[in-house]
Amino acid sequence: MRVFVVGASGAIGTRLVPQLIARGHEVIGTFRSPGNAERVQALGAKPIVLNLLDARAVRKAVLDSKPEAIVHQATALADLRDFKHFDRSFAQTNRLRTEGTDALLAAAREAGVRRFVAQSFASARYARGGGPVKTEDDPLDPTPVAAMRETSAAMRHLDEAVTAAGGIALRYGGFYGILKDGMLEAVRKGFFPIVGDGGGVFSFIHLDDAAAATVLALEHGRAGIYNIVDDEPAPVREWLPVLASVLGAKPPRRVPRWLARLFAGDVAVMMGTEARGASNAKAKRELGWTLRYPSWRQGFVAAYASTTPRTEARLIEAP
Ligand SMILES: NC(=O)c1ccc[n+]([C@@H]2O[C@H](COP(=O)([O-])OP(=O)(O)OC[C@H]3O[C@@H](n4cnc5c(N)ncnc54)[C@H](OP(=O)(O)O)[C@@H]3O)[C@@H](O)[C@H]2O)c1
Repeated sequence: MRVFVVGASGAIGTRLVPQLIARGHEVIGTFRSPGNAERVQALGAKPIVLNLLDARAVRKAVLDSKPEAIVHQATALADLRDFKHFDRSFAQTNRLRTEGTDALLAAAREAGVRRFVAQSFASARYARGGGPVKTEDDPLDPTPVAAMRETSAAMRHLDEAVTAAGGIALRYGGFYGILKDGMLEAVRKGFFPIVGDGGGVFSFIHLDDAAAATVLALEHGRAGIYNIVDDEPAPVREWLPVLASVLGAKPPRRVPRWLARLFAGDVAVMMGTEARGASNAKAKRELGWTLRYPSWRQGFVAAYASTTPRTEARLIEAP
């Protein structure tokens, strides 16, 4: 297929493009930041600069490129630090998920594009009652924490608009597998504590596995939602000490809810204590997806074991 990948220069885009090409697809890859054209080209795609928030430019790029499929992987989370003002931190990404998705869907309709896959999110979105692990049919949180209402609404908009148009929304787990990741820095510095009982359940996914599932969804997924997460949703009290150890950091501190609320806000407390994880049964069953890293237990080691502070220091010092 001729595939138009929006966000080809990003964390998942750079994993996805080579996998698409290896499967025989032709890829047009968009980027936003100057200097990323070479990066996208080196991956084997035809680079196109595109601001997804410019609907006229989106229309023109899609009509000119004449793709058979579109994959929307654009987010703007590189400087994500402030969890306290969650919606403010996610404001640009929320626009990419609402206005950006709408512009792409309109262009896809006009260009007669048959397949549409977009990035959504699974962790901390499902209703905070009942069991710890949720399927795509389980209800989303009807009362999101106030600080993340806009972000929740933007993700819901993407899910609904894409599936109503006959496309696929992939609810990914928390991505891992790249070194430039704010969470790693926080864990290394001891700024990521276990809040309360640490019972908030996270679902993770290695970026390579996320990209593999995306290719399969594009090729033969059914319209609808798929959770793209690993086999082991786990509470913070289980996975965080393992990640800290792999990174060569001190074991995480434990802090009471009130203190976490004060410093990090309600969203951090909710994620650390009440969040629910997601099940990947549907994606495995329907897409024939097998994971290279079925659990974060092996995945964290594969991704980060060679990046302990000493190793990093040596790499930086090397000529
Ligand atoms: N499920 C998850 O856990 C999840 C989801 C998303 C991101 N993240 C994490 O967040 C961190 C940073 O991610 P990120 O989202 O900032 O960066 P990213 O993954 O590096 O970039 C996302 C892509 O969107 C493109 N983009 C940004 N603004 C755009 C716009 N207005 N129009 C069109 N394309 C646009 C970027 O282009 P340029 O690079 O050319 O600017 C890039 O190709 C990474 O560690 C990533 O793993 C995690």
